[in-house]
Amino acid sequence: MIVLTFFTLYFFLAHAQNSTSCQRSCGNNVNLQYPFGFSHSCKIRLHCHENKTMKIGEFEVKQVSSDNILLHFPANCSRHVDETHQFIGSNYAPTPRNNFLIKNCTQPVNNCSIQAESFQDRLSLKTCKSKDDGDDDDDDDVSCYSEKNTSGVNELQRRTTCSSLFTSILINLNKSVDSVVLALEFELVELEWWLQGPCKCAKDAKCVNVSVVGGNKGFRCQCKAGFQGNGFRDGGGCRRG
Ligand SMILES: *[C@@H]1O[C@H](CO)[C@@H](O)[C@H](O)[C@H]1NC(C)=O
Ligand SMILES: *[C@@H]1O[C@H](CO)[C@@H](O)[C@H](O)[C@H]1NC(C)=O
Ligand SMILES: *[C@@H]1O[C@H](CO)[C@@H](O)[C@H](O)[C@H]1NC(C)=O
Ligand SMILES: *[C@@H]1O[C@H](CO)[C@@H](O)[C@H](O)[C@H]1NC(C)=O
Ligand SMILES: *[C@@H]1O[C@H](CO)[C@@H](O)[C@H](O)[C@H]1NC(C)=O
Ligand SMILES: *[C@@H]1O[C@H](CO)[C@@H](O)[C@H](O)[C@H]1NC(C)=O
Ligand SMILES: *[C@@H]1O[C@H](CO)[C@@H](O)[C@H](O)[C@H]1NC(C)=O
Repeated sequence: MIVLTFFTLYFFLAHAQNSTSCQRSCGNNVNLQYPFGFSHSCKIRLHCHENKTMKIGEFEVKQVSSDNILLHFPANCSRHVDETHQFIGSNYAPTPRNNFLIKNCTQPVNNCSIQAESFQDRLSLKTCKSKDDGDDDDDDDVSCYSEKNTSGVNELQRRTTCSSLFTSILINLNKSVDSVVLALEFELVELEWWLQGPCKCAKDAKCVNVSVVGGNKGFRCQCKAGFQGNGFRDGGGCRRG
């Protein structure tokens, strides 16, 4: 009878653990912290590709930090603008630092704080003209779109007349204040991440509110000065460091 009870208990615990624990590793080299992981029960789920790289949609995740996620976004002449939908999830969305280079516009746009033409050379990327396209018209012109409103990237297609999404340039990735140098990072998309509110931060953390797609409340936690950890009440909180 006791043996049976133990068995029941064992299976109950094993099962409970299985359904609630979040798989945090993807191969030997990739280990993520709360709230990120690769299984169903993780608060923010990324995809673990079979060759042990992290992905969101079809794009490789280069970095996950305390407030953002960087994706590799290679230049591509045959990508449709609506592919931006892959950057928007219930827990992440593109930041205003992204400058999307778009092509194939009936009406050119440039409301980025950089001039699209000025780095077309520096990109030294393939142009999108086909070789047999003899006439030297403007069909390879690049337009640029950036959006202050995080949720507005949804609207890229609606607010421009462009059909092709070439790549993206990140401005000022380097947050060091005293640097006057304009830092440009090519072929990257930056996403901001959050958890659905209300705040659930540890005692020694402050809550950072994030305004998110659809007007819901989002938050992140940040340990106060003198403390280390990720700050989330459910994710280990903060300890004196
Ligand atoms: C967890 O679930 C997987 C498949 O869903 C199963 O193979 C594994 O044995 C389970 N682990 C435990 C500890 O029950
Ligand atoms: C993993 O696969 C992706 C796309 O399939 C590829 O871009 C990347 O180079 C691969 N990485 C490794 C380490 O093989
Ligand atoms: C370019 O984008 C298209 C559409 O998303 C995709 O099918 C194709 O594989 C991409 N090309 C390269 C070289 O990645
Ligand atoms: C670019 O234009 C769109 C749509 O008109 C606007 O929502 C966005 O804020 C503009 N971006 C900048 C940097 O002015
Ligand atoms: C951002 O966009 C959303 C959806 O398009 C809209 O509801 C919201 O008012 C916008 N916020 C600002 C500050 O423009
Ligand atoms: C460019 O626009 C034309 C007409 O709108 C369309 O047929 C073509 O597929 C587009 N090319 C790309 C690369 O999006
Ligand atoms: C940011 O700038 C500082 C000082 O200029 C440099 O040490 C650091 O490596 C830069 N970080 C990135 C991500 O470029």
